[in-house]
Amino acid sequence: MTKSALITGSCGLIGSEVSGHLAREGFQVFGIDNNERAVFFGPEGDTSWTLQRLRRSIPGYRHFNIDVRDRNAILQLVANIKPDVIVHTAAQPSHDRAAAIPFEDFDTNAGGTLNMLEAARRACPESPFIHMSTNKVYGDLPNGIRLRECGTRWDYDDPAYVGGVPETLSIDQSKHSLFGASKVSGDVMVQEYGRYFGMPTCSLRGGCLTGPNHAGVELHGFLSYLIRCNLEQREYKIFGYKGKQVRDNIHSEDVARFITEFCRAPRCGEVYNLGGGRGNSCSILEAFAIIGTLTGKSQKYTYVDENRIGDHICYYSDLTKMKMHYPAWEITRSLKVIFGEIAESWERRLAAATPTSLPQMAATG
Ligand SMILES: NC(=O)c1ccc[n+]([C@@H]2O[C@H](COP(=O)([O-])OP(=O)(O)OC[C@H]3O[C@@H](n4cnc5c(N)ncnc54)[C@H](O)[C@@H]3O)[C@@H](O)[C@H]2O)c1
Repeated sequence: MTKSALITGSCGLIGSEVSGHLAREGFQVFGIDNNERAVFFGPEGDTSWTLQRLRRSIPGYRHFNIDVRDRNAILQLVANIKPDVIVHTAAQPSHDRAAAIPFEDFDTNAGGTLNMLEAARRACPESPFIHMSTNKVYGDLPNGIRLRECGTRWDYDDPAYVGGVPETLSIDQSKHSLFGASKVSGDVMVQEYGRYFGMPTCSLRGGCLTGPNHAGVELHGFLSYLIRCNLEQREYKIFGYKGKQVRDNIHSEDVARFITEFCRAPRCGEVYNLGGGRGNSCSILEAFAIIGTLTGKSQKYTYVDENRIGDHICYYSDLTKMKMHYPAWEITRSLKVIFGEIAESWERRLAAATPTSLPQMAATG
């Protein structure tokens, strides 16, 4: 019998990648997405183009335009489907946006996650439940790690962190942003359903998850947005840290591959730091240089001498635990490949868009 997978946020970057990946693995895919990204970010965040792509590319894909905050609808849907796997990616994903919409942020990230967990416990407690968490659950604690300033980036100057940030870093007593706090609630609840009820759950604390299917906007999806700015020769705004702030970037396909590995051999109440690691890390200045080499265009930018509240100065994930638990998994897309794929995708989308069909970006980027 065909196995089924329920993906929330199926039209988002990760949800759409995982949907395609699990379909290729032989799953019947059910997606939940109400295009809330367009509500959070305006027309630039619209993901209806992805829904069309999913319908075209995944045989038998079934879509549900349901809000994960709608408890009754979620309980009923999960009871009807009884999926063999649940991948929960629907979220308000922006650190900066959360302060303006605290109720929507918390109700989606914390309440929506609880709805999904409880629905799973009632209908299919044996099914692996994978939740997309974030490295923002560590708040600004990573900024307390001793750093050294290099020519184009900050880097860790403490031997305990040369491999990156491990899952053992505290998530307590630091500044998270409201987004980080709502994601902590979901992350801990996912762990609790694993530890208290014995369900096969895990929280993946993402670094910068990216890829050609991202609808990057200024407030979320830094690499996708930066590359779009380069192609359109728009100004990118750097917020503080001299542009040397470091992020680790992982292709959404590598995220989907890890999720598949977890489904094959699930564990209870686990957490993993999921990013590109040191090998796929870059600072903003380094990202300008890489994309400039690929497109031949220099980056236009302005510098604002004030960092985003609680923003990490340097963050890359220590992938040791993931690789130890799932030795078959590794990063398959290098930074350069990721840049190339995103640039190619934007070029295609921008060329296909008419002046009126393409949402305008703010003048600052
Ligand atoms: N992209 C990153 O760099 C990154 C980094 C760390 C963690 N994460 C986490 O990974 C997950 C997926 O991120 P993404 O980049 O794919 O985000 P995304 O915004 O591209 O996708 C999320 C999808 O969920 C949908 N959605 C939002 N609220 C909803 C609701 N109430 N009901 C139904 N659908 C809803 C949106 O319309 C969107 O299509 C999120 O939990 C995010 O916090 C992402």
